[in-house]
Amino acid sequence: MSCSIIVGGFFGDEGKGKIVAHIAHHDRPSIISRGGVGPNAGHTVRIGEKEYGVRMVPSGFVYPGATLMIGSGVLVDPRVFLHEIDLVGVRDRIFVDGRCGVIEEEHIARDRGSEHLRNRIGSTGTGCGPANADRVLRLARQAKDLPELADFVTDVAERINRALDNDEVVLLEGTQGFGISLYFGTYPFVTSKDTSASQIAADNGVGPTRIDDVIVVFKAYPTRVGEGPFSTEMPAERSHELGIEEFGTVTHRQRRIGTWDGEMARYSAMINGCTQAAITGIDRIDPACFGVTEYERLTKTAKAFIEQAEEDIGRPVTLISTGPELSQIIDLRGEV
Ligand code: IMP
Ligand code: MG
Repeated sequence: MSCSIIVGGFFGDEGKGKIVAHIAHHDRPSIISRGGVGPNAGHTVRIGEKEYGVRMVPSGFVYPGATLMIGSGVLVDPRVFLHEIDLVGVRDRIFVDGRCGVIEEEHIARDRGSEHLRNRIGSTGTGCGPANADRVLRLARQAKDLPELADFVTDVAERINRALDNDEVVLLEGTQGFGISLYFGTYPFVTSKDTSASQIAADNGVGPTRIDDVIVVFKAYPTRVGEGPFSTEMPAERSHELGIEEFGTVTHRQRRIGTWDGEMARYSAMINGCTQAAITGIDRIDPACFGVTEYERLTKTAKAFIEQAEEDIGRPVTLISTGPELSQIIDLRGEV
């Protein structure tokens, strides 16, 4: 059996989607299941000219051999879910745990209408905070209560644990990033739930003893959307000079850009129980690395960056993304 968790190590948008897609194509999981908050997170996967932005469907959907699932800890917005499964054509291989909390239109209105959430915290306005609040108050409806989800409802925890009993490969896909964890992040400028690897396991009903690998994804230049402290943030003029500009998948807001934060990487790796790390955007450290697929071909500058990152994280960097395409990656997992 093999069960891996993939989570974001900084403030989200580290490029987990591509890492999950790459691992899926290589490791051929029978199940890819999502933990995390819900449709406030956006994953972008690019294949050729086409860019897929999804918020509910696990980004590993690009590997057609996997059954896709959404764990019971996650919030489901049935409108987003039903729209996305048709958009990416996965209707016949996706399931939702019947216990998932449901996001109602009213939660979205409360999120967007709240001065505190929308303006002070800078929420994504997707209703996740108010829906999680109603879930804690035991007012929220569950996925099994909605007739339009009836075809998709299953016991995700049961199915994942059974797959592991049968020696199948399972990927648990986290969302967002460590720095916006409700428990470990920069409270109150955080999301409405923990985002660490333990939470992703719990969201899927997988016990800690069944996890083999925790892959934490770090971005060479971390970014942050919304309000809150960001100790290595650089002035907008500097990121402009470097040619780095990013916009959110869900909110299209411009992301704040910073430099590598070794201390945050260390802390995040520790709490996530990182076994190996992925670094994305190395081509931004040195554009000469764009599209490189072999470690030896990386420049001196890039290799020095990776070595420093490994020292900070305390674990090997086994995946290095060198561009937006699925094929633009160095995979060293076989070598550790
Ligand atoms: P909420 O999760 O929509 O309530 O937003 C709370 C904070 O988390 C805001 O600063 C958001 O910008 C941030 N946030 C939520 N989801 C994501 C994500 O997927 N990537 C990056 N930041 C996020
Ligand atoms: Mg995102």
